[in-house]
Amino acid sequence: MFSRRIKLLKAYKTETTPCTIKLSSNENPFDLEESIKLELLEVLKKIEFNRYPDPHATKLRQTLAKLYDVEPDNIMVCNGSDEAIQYLMLAIGELEEGVLIPKPTFPMYEVIANALGRPIYEVTLDKHFQMEKESLEKAISLKPSLAFISNPNNPTGNLFSDNDISFIRKHTFCVIDEAYYDFCGKTYIKDAIKDDSIAVMRTLSKIGLASLRVGALIGTKEFIKEISKLKMPFNVSATSQAIADYIVSNHVDKIKSQIQTIIEERQRLKEELSKIEGIKVYDSCANFFLIKVKNADFVHKSLIQKGILTRNISYLPNLENHIRISIGKKEENDALISALKEISL
Ligand SMILES: Cc1ncc(COP(=O)(O)O)c(C=O)c1O
Repeated sequence: MFSRRIKLLKAYKTETTPCTIKLSSNENPFDLEESIKLELLEVLKKIEFNRYPDPHATKLRQTLAKLYDVEPDNIMVCNGSDEAIQYLMLAIGELEEGVLIPKPTFPMYEVIANALGRPIYEVTLDKHFQMEKESLEKAISLKPSLAFISNPNNPTGNLFSDNDISFIRKHTFCVIDEAYYDFCGKTYIKDAIKDDSIAVMRTLSKIGLASLRVGALIGTKEFIKEISKLKMPFNVSATSQAIADYIVSNHVDKIKSQIQTIIEERQRLKEELSKIEGIKVYDSCANFFLIKVKNADFVHKSLIQKGILTRNISYLPNLENHIRISIGKKEENDALISALKEISL
């Protein structure tokens, strides 16, 4: 019944082991305050639950346009940026044409390319997690019709060099996935709204609203108009549209202060973890860290026993014995530091 393509597909794995401290999915550790949740009851009361949602997410697009300093017609709102990845893979180039991705990177690019049978041209990363020159040139010589660049890159946490990104843009359509923009401030949005060879993805998932599944694809108006032909008519629910719009319109300062706290914790955690013998900590421009230990399986399991869930990414190329750890609340980070000190590394 299923195609060979689908039979060969490996499902995207998420960490779901129940733990008190969840540092595995790069979420914002701060939930909305109770008082804000009560305000949302008023927002929900206004929804007509018997009606389909606004297919154009008009109000939310206006609000996001202000946030991103673009016009509403530069934005397509998606059910998380995962949905945008799918539309881009379907829309750009022919399906038999290849997709350039650095590796290791966010696995959904590969999952969706494989689901569609698109060839993948991998670019290997060097020890600083930058693209290896030869590998990049080889991938470009295969003439991919699009490239996905997670910038900062998940799971390595670094920004890629502007030169490499310019080189890729000269040869193929480039999608810059800025899921972690808020933790680094580097953006290609200004280019994306005037140049048809680049688009940017953003998401509300990493800044406190992961449950809503709201992402945005940003590009020129012509690009957004064309790719919107693929959009499922009611892809973002009315509740998600209304809540995202309300929070971004009224509580963006709160979100910004949480981001600032996470950035400060990133610095503190880096310093504290660097002091622990047996751990190598990498710099990060995102809301997570990559660490290297002697035995990642053992450390990952020992942390679970202590109620702390992290992401063991040892299965990824060149990342043997590496663990990805999201930055949590101060007390969660303290628990992590104590736990790592107790585990014999
Ligand atoms: C680089 C990157 N892009 C996209 C996503 C998914 O974002 P969303 O929740 O908007 O689908 C993630 C989630 O981990 C990510 O790391």
